[in-house]
Amino acid sequence: MANDLTAIPEHQASAEVHLADARQLSTILKPNSIDAVFTSPPYPNEKDYTRTTRLESVLLGFINNKAELRNFKQGLIRSNTRNVYKGDADDRWVTDHHEIQSTAAAIEKRRIELNKTSGFEKLYGRVTRLYFGGMARHLAELRSFLKPSAYLGYVVGDQASYLQVMIKTGELLADIAQSLGYKVLDIDLFRTRFATVTKKQMREEVVILQWLGP
Ligand SMILES: C[S@@+](CC[C@H](N)C(=O)[O-])C[C@H]1O[C@@H](n2cnc3c(N)ncnc32)[C@H](O)[C@@H]1O
Repeated sequence: MANDLTAIPEHQASAEVHLADARQLSTILKPNSIDAVFTSPPYPNEKDYTRTTRLESVLLGFINNKAELRNFKQGLIRSNTRNVYKGDADDRWVTDHHEIQSTAAAIEKRRIELNKTSGFEKLYGRVTRLYFGGMARHLAELRSFLKPSAYLGYVVGDQASYLQVMIKTGELLADIAQSLGYKVLDIDLFRTRFATVTKKQMREEVVILQWLGP
């Protein structure tokens, strides 16, 4: 990618990269300064993103020991049962969201029916609430840094990683955003994936939002 960019110098622009938690932005962003947000956030898909990049993280010196790994994981949205911690409280952000609560309850009900009793399986419902709560916290935090009329695009996919209970990630995120004062412009379908286990088409979507100001 770096080589490709040198081949098109007229398109080069300066960039700043910050290593930070998208739920806590005040140390890196200025109020009322952002025109657009385009991102592929985590999904509730049981993927531990620190595993995907563990080698790079160690080689580049971001993680030198277990305590630093834990610290790194705690700075991430809770999207898998490997990074759920005792004091986690992002679920407070979605206590009144009926569909998120009923989806998490359906996962827990299925776990009991199937007699799945491992420590990780017992966390499936909780991590679902923590995930959407964390995304709500991020969207709430972001508001004061956006310019009025800023556009936002969140690329997300439906999931059924937790005992095949369907989680409509895009729809639920759009709903949360709306309740936080964003305008939902579209939930744009860009592809479907066939999930062999559930035999269902899973939607991958871009949730397109606009912030019109407080
Ligand atoms: C679906 S992946 C997108 C990866 C990215 N598009 C790329 O190509 O590297 C989601 C990313 O969000 C990051 N992430 C998770 N929680 C975060 C947080 N609280 N703040 C910032 N980034 C976070 C994960 O580490 C992961 O790299």
